Amino acid sequence: MTTAPSPLLLPDGRPAAQAWTLSPALRHLNHGSFGAVPQVAQLEQQRLRAEMDRAPVVWFPALPRRVAEARAVVADFLRVDAADLALVPNASGGASVVYGSLPARPGGEVLVTDHGYGAVTMGAQRLARRWGGSVRTARVPLAATAEQACAAVLAGITDRTALIVVDHITSATARWMPVAEIGAAARRLGIPLLIDGAHVPGLAEDPLAGLEFDVWVGNLHKFGCAPRGASALVVRSGLRDELHPLIDSWAAEAPFPERFDTQGTIDATSYLAAPASLAFVERTWGWRTARGYLHALADYAERIVGEAVTALTGESAAVDVGMPVNALRLVRLPAGLAGTRVEADALRDRAAAELGVEVAFTSFGGVGYVRLSAHVYNTAADYEYFADRCVPALLSWARSRARS
Ligand SMILES: Cc1ncc(COP(=O)(O)O)c(C=O)c1O
Repeated sequence: MTTAPSPLLLPDGRPAAQAWTLSPALRHLNHGSFGAVPQVAQLEQQRLRAEMDRAPVVWFPALPRRVAEARAVVADFLRVDAADLALVPNASGGASVVYGSLPARPGGEVLVTDHGYGAVTMGAQRLARRWGGSVRTARVPLAATAEQACAAVLAGITDRTALIVVDHITSATARWMPVAEIGAAARRLGIPLLIDGAHVPGLAEDPLAGLEFDVWVGNLHKFGCAPRGASALVVRSGLRDELHPLIDSWAAEAPFPERFDTQGTIDATSYLAAPASLAFVERTWGWRTARGYLHALADYAERIVGEAVTALTGESAAVDVGMPVNALRLVRLPAGLAGTRVEADALRDRAAAELGVEVAFTSFGGVGYVRLSAHVYNTAADYEYFADRCVPALLSWARSRARS
């Protein structure tokens, strides 16, 4: 039986959460959606902004060099070559870079999965429309093993497939996808592969080891806790010569990745402050210890919340996601809740307003789930609160919905 891990503390003995500025009026169980920035990194970003505003004409010419320095730190964190990594504002932007840079393929298909992040899939649809082609969606059962998931994706390949887009960790279903196997097959077939690794930085020690892909993008502002607007775009193919940043600027004729270091007049302090977050977790607990804690805490969270739902509904709320993620877990909601994404988002807003909890609700295949995140500032008490106070409320909302 999974037990609650002891809370992580700061070196002076205070709870880890004291290093963040999250509202004490809310339980924050949704690191996965928008992250949470430790105060030390917020202060670093404020310091950088003050420097920018004191002498903008000194700041901007020196900015590309400082972005390149931040890029090297991020590359080190992800264990990739700095020459393969550019900084982009977010995972969505990284996907847009790929969609905007790929050579035209008239009539080409973009292969996505039904677990894909909606906004990234919408970008794929726009690309396919531009090509006069279409998007094909591979259906991957929620509980698919690595082999089954890989087979489901590969079954969607046709002779028109011009790009595969697959998540490394999925958003609505909180599972890994077998990107190593998919990447090897894509490379064999010569089909470009974009891996959406939005949730990955921070959750795996060496996340890109042995992977074959054309482009991988991962947010530093999720589990890496960086200020928002900092993502890594990693390239491992000749596509590097085609890729251009979202904003055409003075470095447009420089090679990859330097041409991403100049983006006109923009506030790039999120890039420069990202290393402060990565370093804070490393020096306070070490990322490896932090990951061990998140894993143990998420095990506990999944168990107690699942048991609470099961006890009240009489139906098992346990979910098999095939390839579970250390810090993100699903529990099935009482029937009638979060059957669609719009309903799931409305439930999120209601839970924040009425139950004092920030948590993600997701929908997959018409079934609603609560997606629990764990980070170092969370403790067992957060999920006990959810199990004891929020689950009964959710059940009563489901029942009143069923009656109306
Ligand atoms: C799988 C996946 N891709 C892309 C995104 C979008 O991230 P961003 O809003 O930082 O672009 C998310 C956000 O949750 C995600 O989960």
